[in-house]
Amino acid sequence: MPLSFDRHRRLRQTAAIRAMVRETHLRVDDLIYPLFVVEGSGIRREVPSMPGVYHLSLDRLTEEIDEIAGLGIRAVMVFGVPDEKDEVGSQAYCETGIVQRAIRQIKAQRPEMVVIADTCLCEYTSHGHCGVVENEQVLNDPSLELLAKTAVSQAQAGADIIAPSNMMDGFVAAIRHGLDEAGFENVPIMSYAIKYASAFYGPFRDAADSAPQFGDRKTYQMDPANRLEAFREAESDIKEGADFLMVKPALAYMDIIRDIKNRFPLPLVAYNVSGEYSMVKAAAQNGWIDEKTVVMEMLTGMKRAGADLIITYFAKDAAHWMAD
Ligand code: PBG
Ligand code: ZN
Repeated sequence: MPLSFDRHRRLRQTAAIRAMVRETHLRVDDLIYPLFVVEGSGIRREVPSMPGVYHLSLDRLTEEIDEIAGLGIRAVMVFGVPDEKDEVGSQAYCETGIVQRAIRQIKAQRPEMVVIADTCLCEYTSHGHCGVVENEQVLNDPSLELLAKTAVSQAQAGADIIAPSNMMDGFVAAIRHGLDEAGFENVPIMSYAIKYASAFYGPFRDAADSAPQFGDRKTYQMDPANRLEAFREAESDIKEGADFLMVKPALAYMDIIRDIKNRFPLPLVAYNVSGEYSMVKAAAQNGWIDEKTVVMEMLTGMKRAGADLIITYFAKDAAHWMAD
């Protein structure tokens, strides 16, 4: 009897054939680039734990936006790092807050750029939590009003999409209601619906100066061990009016990305978070891995897992590599 087996290698013989049978494609249109804006002028300061990521003052933001647009990237996500913080995060919903000014400026400079506003309080509160705090407890319902106010002020500044990341219960309903009342019924909500309490956010908290001053975020962000809970979170947010769902972080949660994509028909976003970025940068700087190949493998893997869009600090690098 002759040996009988399948010849899978036939379709791997040349680069051209491999390209023809490739199942997943990463496109520049899939990428969202996060930006950290700060008060002051002339500032373009590298975040120590995130090589290649900068704090930008508004005057230096202009050149950054030109570079991003020049690479074909269509969407940015803005995070504000204010000078002043207080108990109730007033700068988050101030008309002249750093994020509101940044949004206005980007939309004036490049009206076609999609500006996504991260809606949370942690960068603006003195205690570093994502909601209102009393006796070291993060209160749910009193936080909702402030989050809705924040979203409305971001929409008033010209934000195209509101992306709430705070993980209070009912935040999508409260923000949808607030936006509709203020006449922004056409502004979509990209909900950080499935956000785990992750140590992969470490470098971001350096960048945004948003680490909690006491306790942790485990009473509002999800337990990394849970999967069914992700379905419950997605269901609530869809019911409350979310237009996009997000899974965050991405790399350790590829199964969740796939599960959510299979169960819910909304556009799905994966957040390739700061710790995932910094690990790769550090290893690459040591010459331990080939950065370009590793990054493209990671981002393609997220799409293969089911992500339609990826928020990533690698967006500019990836856009460069895709253009080569
Ligand atoms: C704010 C927020 C965080 C991230 C995005 N929005 C941090 C957190 O929840 O502590 C993390 C992003 C990253 O790590 O790249 N709620
Ligand atoms: Zn937060």
